[in-house]
Amino acid sequence: MRALLSTLPLGKEILVKTCDPKKVAVVGAGYVGLGTAGLLAHLGYQVTGIDVDLDRVAQLQRGEVPIHEPGLDALLAAQGERLTWTTDYAAVADADVVFICVGTPPSSDGTPDLRYVTAAAASIAAHLDARPLVIVNKSTVPIGTGDFVQRILEDNALTFDLARHTVVSNPEFLREGTALADSLYPDRIVLGGSTEALDCMVKLYAPLIEQSFTPPPATPRPEGFTRPAVVRTTLQSAEMIKYAANAFLALKISFANEVAGLCERVGADIEEVTTGIGLDTRIGLRFLQAGLGWGGSCFGKDTQGLISAGDEHDYDMPILRAAIDVNYRQRRVVIDKLLRHLKTLKGKKVGVLGMAFKPNTDDLRDAPAHDLIQRLVQLGARVTAHDPIAMPRAAREWAHLTYQAADSIEAVFDRADAVIIATEWNEYRALDWAAMTHRMREAVIIDARNIIRTPLAAEIEQVGRAVLKAGPVPS
Ligand SMILES: NC(=O)c1ccc[n+]([C@@H]2O[C@H](COP(=O)([O-])OP(=O)(O)OC[C@H]3O[C@@H](n4cnc5c(N)ncnc54)[C@H](O)[C@@H]3O)[C@@H](O)[C@H]2O)c1
Repeated sequence: MRALLSTLPLGKEILVKTCDPKKVAVVGAGYVGLGTAGLLAHLGYQVTGIDVDLDRVAQLQRGEVPIHEPGLDALLAAQGERLTWTTDYAAVADADVVFICVGTPPSSDGTPDLRYVTAAAASIAAHLDARPLVIVNKSTVPIGTGDFVQRILEDNALTFDLARHTVVSNPEFLREGTALADSLYPDRIVLGGSTEALDCMVKLYAPLIEQSFTPPPATPRPEGFTRPAVVRTTLQSAEMIKYAANAFLALKISFANEVAGLCERVGADIEEVTTGIGLDTRIGLRFLQAGLGWGGSCFGKDTQGLISAGDEHDYDMPILRAAIDVNYRQRRVVIDKLLRHLKTLKGKKVGVLGMAFKPNTDDLRDAPAHDLIQRLVQLGARVTAHDPIAMPRAAREWAHLTYQAADSIEAVFDRADAVIIATEWNEYRALDWAAMTHRMREAVIIDARNIIRTPLAAEIEQVGRAVLKAGPVPS
């Protein structure tokens, strides 16, 4: 450390010398911000969560968690005084490190909308003073945003000093539904920025890197997990790593779906094919599930974000464009499968099982079920939809769609002409499918997530596999 200090230009020492993080502010109390705040409080820091949404902050102050994420309620409740919530950015003045975790939704042209990041940075700037502060961007942002945030801080702060106020990129890789385990036991921690700011981040994350914390009861440390890798790099590379990681996972899923379509035509079984290729350690088994394709707030937005970044440099990214096309084609493929069985949907009752974009979350952003319901209604079907968790949220966010919210899973099947499985919730895997199909008028099931394992007295269409013909259930 001494050697490093001696090589630093005058002023840069300040941050390194004074970096002894104790207080953290987390801006944005969404899926990422809530998890980040809970994690850092659990690691022992004094954390203040800041959000501009008054209702959300009031809820959190009452001890209510505004999203569904397994284990999060217990983790946040366990932090007591270490974790508080406010709408007031004044907490930044007291913090050693501030995390920006606000949304970066796509704009109408597909480029990431940076208005929330801009507003957050301007609000942080108002509270910069002579104290050193590391400003960490956890939101997924276009390459170059780290410099952009620094510029906003510089333009809006009364006191701005590059030696004291440093921007770091620390992209988030959590998956909704398993967010806590992903944050507590990550494969890697990616940090981009100046050497001295990254030294400070490594100090902040020391309990996570060394895995010296006591695991929360609901999220035990996986057997064999030792410590995450730490990738230290530049701001630009850290920002690119996040986009490239999501784009690669997205195209793995699209690859499986593209091969699944051919499997149906040549009589191969996609599940056996993906097992056969995924056992090659160069490929891996994960993210090769054929089905209805990806949804959610990240894959669509981030693949498009990377393409837009390419466009800015007149650089085409045909692989990513194809991954997106294949993904959204899957939503049409499922309707085509249904039409092959029912011929017309006019007046038909179609049940949809699952509305959230994946199990164990209430997140409806870019959920395939949305497009399915919309198309089914356009084709004249009466839709009854169910989700174990996301129905109240759908009542608010999907008010523009015409569907009957099912008050039970049975109601989806009652006198239905067909049922589509859109999300692979365990509740649906565990159904007594034989009993359910008996409730239907026509037993057509489009299992768009390939979860049904036993033959039924029903026509079952899956993705990338042979149609299971209706017949007597084997005893
Ligand atoms: N959700 C995921 O699974 C996930 C995973 C990895 C990365 N990301 C990225 O993390 C970022 C956040 O995603 P999210 O899903 O948590 O978003 P979200 O929409 O759930 O939450 C964003 C929160 O920020 C708040 N906010 C907006 N402007 C603010 C401001 N100026 N000051 C304070 N709070 C403000 C909003 O009120 C909201 O509560 C995005 O860039 C996303 O791409 C998300």
